[in-house]
Amino acid sequence: MTGRAKIIGTGSYLPKRILTNKELEKIVETSDEWITTRTGIRSRRIAGAGEETSKMAAQAAIKALTMAGVTARELDMIIVGTITAEMVMPSCACLVQKEIGAENAFAFDVSAACSGFAYALEIADRYLKNAPDMKILLIGAETLSARVNWQDRNTCILFGDGAGACVVTGSKDENGLLASQLYSDGRLWQLLSLDAVPRRYCPVVDYKTIPDRDSFCDGSAFNMVGKDVFKHAVREMGDAVENLLKREGITVDDIDLMIPHQANIRILKSLAERVNLPFEKVYTTIQKYGNSSAASLPIALDEANREGRLQKGDLLLFSVFGGGFTWGVVLLRW
Ligand code: COA
Repeated sequence: MTGRAKIIGTGSYLPKRILTNKELEKIVETSDEWITTRTGIRSRRIAGAGEETSKMAAQAAIKALTMAGVTARELDMIIVGTITAEMVMPSCACLVQKEIGAENAFAFDVSAACSGFAYALEIADRYLKNAPDMKILLIGAETLSARVNWQDRNTCILFGDGAGACVVTGSKDENGLLASQLYSDGRLWQLLSLDAVPRRYCPVVDYKTIPDRDSFCDGSAFNMVGKDVFKHAVREMGDAVENLLKREGITVDDIDLMIPHQANIRILKSLAERVNLPFEKVYTTIQKYGNSSAASLPIALDEANREGRLQKGDLLLFSVFGGGFTWGVVLLRW
């Protein structure tokens, strides 16, 4: 197979500030024990000054470009999956373009919530079918800490900030993206939504001030029906994985590693059980970073890659789910 997307470099950036569950106990009525048992999250990263979404995205991009041996000027296209760009216009992708000096690329954002990175990869793959020599930078980057309501314990404990990136080009061998399927269902939007809050109402806070509650954005912009989201996530991701494997004529035993969107360790365990994949084959970062929406998958991919967990020829599954609802699955040979 030729011309389909092959990942040739990965990178990630995590904010320096670590916010632990113990610190959250001082901000909302919660406990380390509750958060750990219900979500698996022990800490998350929180962006500070100089760690805006586009700045983190650019840092992740530079690492991915270095690994790929591609210069920024060689890039043809930049796609950023994000729901927390610092501006509505220009796109985060254009700010990244400026930041890294990718003047020959065209750049745009994809809004698909936590599924943003998989959506971006699918778009890149379609371009590469017609133009396999293109070099494309894909990023997932989020600053959710600037948008969540830090007085709502139902949601603020879940999210974190960060960015992950990869460089893709057309595959010249049997490695690369083999199959994918994206979905969305706008009828269910009210189960998970984030208002379009003007930035002036919700500034990126200097998080050295934690636990000063008053310095957080307190707009009730984030709406979530947690139990319903949980059920849909397991069901839709499970169906998507099973349908894709069936369509491609492979079994779950052929999968070497699943790298899913990191929402909740219990969602990931239920998903693994549902599709009969041993949990050792599910890569997780949720314990350290919480749910960083579109950034979570490319951050996990980069960590797995740099740890040497991905061997050439491995069969990988990406599985995503997010607000919209949006969801999808990607099968690729590393
Ligand atoms: N600390 C302590 N108690 C909390 C709490 C917190 N941070 N958040 C909620 N609670 C309370 C609730 O108020 C509720 O109390 P009540 O019984 O007195 O009303 C109780 O804990 C149980 O809440 P419940 O909603 O039943 O918990 P849950 O087992 O469903 O877990 C989530 C809640 C949010 C962790 C879980 O539903 C979930 O992860 N859903 C998916 C969310 C998600 O992944 N979103 C992003 C998708 S991309």
